[in-house]
Amino acid sequence: MADPKKLFIKTYGCQMNVYDSTRMADAMAADGYVTTEKADDADMVLINTCHIREKASEKLFSDLGRLRPLKVAKPDLKITVAGCVAQAEGAEILRRAPQVDVVVGPQSYHRLPEMLRAGGQVVDTDFPAEDKFDHLPQGRGHSGPSAFLTVQEGCDKFCAFCVVPYTRGAEVSRPPERLLAEARALVARGARDISLLGQNVNAYHGDGWTLARLIRALAEIPDLLRIRYMTSHPNDMADDLIAAHGDVPQLMPYLHLPVQSGSDRILKAMNRKHTRDDYFRLIDRFRAVRPDILLTSDFIVGFPGETDADFSQTVDLVERVGYGMAYSFKYSARPGTPAAEKAAVPDDVADARLQALQSLLTSQQRAAQDAMVGRTVGVLYEKAGRMPGQMVGKSDHLQAVHVTDANGKVGALVQVRITASSANSLAGVTIS
Ligand code: SAH
Ligand code: SF4
Ligand code: F3S
Repeated sequence: MADPKKLFIKTYGCQMNVYDSTRMADAMAADGYVTTEKADDADMVLINTCHIREKASEKLFSDLGRLRPLKVAKPDLKITVAGCVAQAEGAEILRRAPQVDVVVGPQSYHRLPEMLRAGGQVVDTDFPAEDKFDHLPQGRGHSGPSAFLTVQEGCDKFCAFCVVPYTRGAEVSRPPERLLAEARALVARGARDISLLGQNVNAYHGDGWTLARLIRALAEIPDLLRIRYMTSHPNDMADDLIAAHGDVPQLMPYLHLPVQSGSDRILKAMNRKHTRDDYFRLIDRFRAVRPDILLTSDFIVGFPGETDADFSQTVDLVERVGYGMAYSFKYSARPGTPAAEKAAVPDDVADARLQALQSLLTSQQRAAQDAMVGRTVGVLYEKAGRMPGQMVGKSDHLQAVHVTDANGKVGALVQVRITASSANSLAGVTIS
């Protein structure tokens, strides 16, 4: 039998891209490909791209530049560009980088094997009517105790800065029976912690189910110990989802709820359609049902028109909420979005704001880590640690924990007393 062909995948962007990459690996496995960690010995290189900020997009072209000599040395090498840059730029990618064979958008990648078989250069950035997931082999690729499961895709919110509604299309929810079947299959292969993914995951409405109903049904699966979901939008937060945090034990005390800005004026200009007070009220309701919930968020600084007063409102919001972790970004003008037409905040001003916000968020993260010391938390083991007799896993709050445990097994959920903290991880010992 001939050696199997090798597939190298590089993934940029959000967790949905990570999930999509595993599904593309599955689709290619059905065509006889195995994955490799090295681009050099691959028969196909697949770059799954992100378009969210300019820097993310440009990474594609530097990667493609590096691949050019490889393609010259190995003319049979196939180069595929998938994901959100593929969707946004389409055939333009072939013009800028003729070494590319296939450009495939996020909604068409179930057609990838057939596109490769067709040969020649192909571009497919359709939003086909069929659900790509119906045409993909069930994920065999996943292994390990933590898994992703995309339940909803696309976005109808059109925040003024964001490309996602254009690259991922309109909101679509997958049917609950398929998701339950896929979750059972993931658990059968060892998953114990499933993160439900969607660009607007709490807008989930498959067959009229809410996200809360889906979570309650998933909680019935034996051996599925933990459930999370991301990313949520404040405007889609339903009462039944908040309630689920109070009474579904598998639903972890962790919530990523991006707010982007603390200024009502900027929230309005961003087309977020909620105020800072709306956000505070939501947070209060989550904390009322789950006082130990760890909150995370995304922020954009330097949005067009943002003044010092607006930025102080963001700082004030962060101080009031207190985040366990958060991402902050400097605004990046994206072609085709409404905000890109507006005059930019000077770069040095945006840089200074980013630095100020990041240092505040870092100190909050450190405080949240330190507050864990002395507490007992559940830790799901993900791998053996670098030191003998040590396991590494994630806490209920998604913090990395190094545990002294000579008998630890990957996939076990154990109770751990936290003994020390650092900026990015915790250390602890098992309790019997
Ligand atoms: N659906 C999610 C976010 C998806 S994009 C939500 O509604 O919050 C992930 C993050 O990238 C966003 O939360 C935002 O903070 C950031 N982002 C999106 N577009 C951006 C841009 N043009 N410039 C800088 N950051 C951006
Ligand atoms: Fe982008 Fe806004 Fe949709 Fe999030 S809600 S994906 S930020 S348009
Ligand atoms: Fe990036 Fe597309 Fe995700 S733009 S953040 S990969 S939805």
